[in-house]
Amino acid sequence: MSRSESTSADAGKRTVLVVGCGSIGRRHIRLLSERPDTRVLACDHDPAILADAIRETPVEQSFNDLDAALAAAPEFVWVCTPDPAHEAVATPALRAGAHVFCEKPLAHTVESGRAIATVAQETGRTVGVGYVIRCEDGYQRIKQLLDNGELGTVVAGCVKVGAYDTLLNMKSGFITDRKDSIMLDYSHELDYLNWFLGPVAEVTATAASIGNLPLKPDPNVVAATLRFESGAVVSLHLNYVQLPSSRTIELFGDAGNLSYTIASGQIILQAHGAEAVTEIPVAGERDDWFRKEHQSFFDAVAAGQQPLVSAEDGVATLRVAEAVITAYRENRVVHLN
Ligand SMILES: NC(=O)c1ccc[n+]([C@@H]2O[C@H](COP(=O)([O-])OP(=O)(O)OC[C@H]3O[C@@H](n4cnc5c(N)ncnc54)[C@H](O)[C@@H]3O)[C@@H](O)[C@H]2O)c1
Repeated sequence: MSRSESTSADAGKRTVLVVGCGSIGRRHIRLLSERPDTRVLACDHDPAILADAIRETPVEQSFNDLDAALAAAPEFVWVCTPDPAHEAVATPALRAGAHVFCEKPLAHTVESGRAIATVAQETGRTVGVGYVIRCEDGYQRIKQLLDNGELGTVVAGCVKVGAYDTLLNMKSGFITDRKDSIMLDYSHELDYLNWFLGPVAEVTATAASIGNLPLKPDPNVVAATLRFESGAVVSLHLNYVQLPSSRTIELFGDAGNLSYTIASGQIILQAHGAEAVTEIPVAGERDDWFRKEHQSFFDAVAAGQQPLVSAEDGVATLRVAEAVITAYRENRVVHLN
């Protein structure tokens, strides 16, 4: 149905096309469909996956072909295909006049991410990137604590993510092709560190493919040190080994420190020199992060403002991910400027 064919019941509703109806695409379809102000269309080039997705959450229209879907003139396109296919979906969507929300990472390479950012500039459309951790209550509170100066100057940090279940949830054919994918799967950490601490200046790293688990990409363990332009030094540890998964951040400042593990439901804040700690409760379930993410992107577009995570942020994160890969592959310090 084209925009002109919309019924009166649809008047005032925005139309969102979700492209890619796999794991994350279905979550977006389900949560966008809850909204009374939104009509949802779906597209997947695999007819069986599309049929399954729309059985789960019925949509107004569905397509196996991207060109046919874009001919329906959606105002928004949600790119939920695998990373190497983001550019091939995002750039025609932008040229068709849609604002694009692209699942993380923006693309599979810096070059491809820059291509998307360039088309966004040429078309004057907005691109947002799905680093949904920025919408998680705990990380939002940490951002407020930092902005309020509760830690003083942040001098260091330690960020850890381990998730064997990331691999268990994938098709095995996908895993064998996933050299260095650990840096893109966990690029959430690079994104929110940029949000908290600003740009990275240089990285060192080491990595391994080790252990006896049946699913073992190369690498499955990365230890990196990020030095930020601010001078702060952060240890980054990623592994595809831990089960159950875990995601933790500690930040150390000259006025205090904090720690947060996402499953714990609380941030522990301690002022410098104090015995006592403050426990800050964290609310919300995973679906709530995505609901906030949707609202934030719609609000940014309506106000003509930068989205929470811009295409430029997405490119900056890809640059750090590629720098870490170069650092552990070539065993050297990589400078970003
Ligand atoms: N924000 C998050 O926390 C989060 C979580 C999971 C995945 N992701 C990201 O979402 C993206 C998709 O991941 P997934 O796990 O849902 O993948 P998936 O393999 O489950 O689904 C991808 C779907 O895209 C379809 N597809 C591929 N190319 C297409 C094309 N050109 N046109 C139409 N359909 C196409 C496939 O048929 C498949 O159904 C990835 O970029 C991933 O990094 C983000």
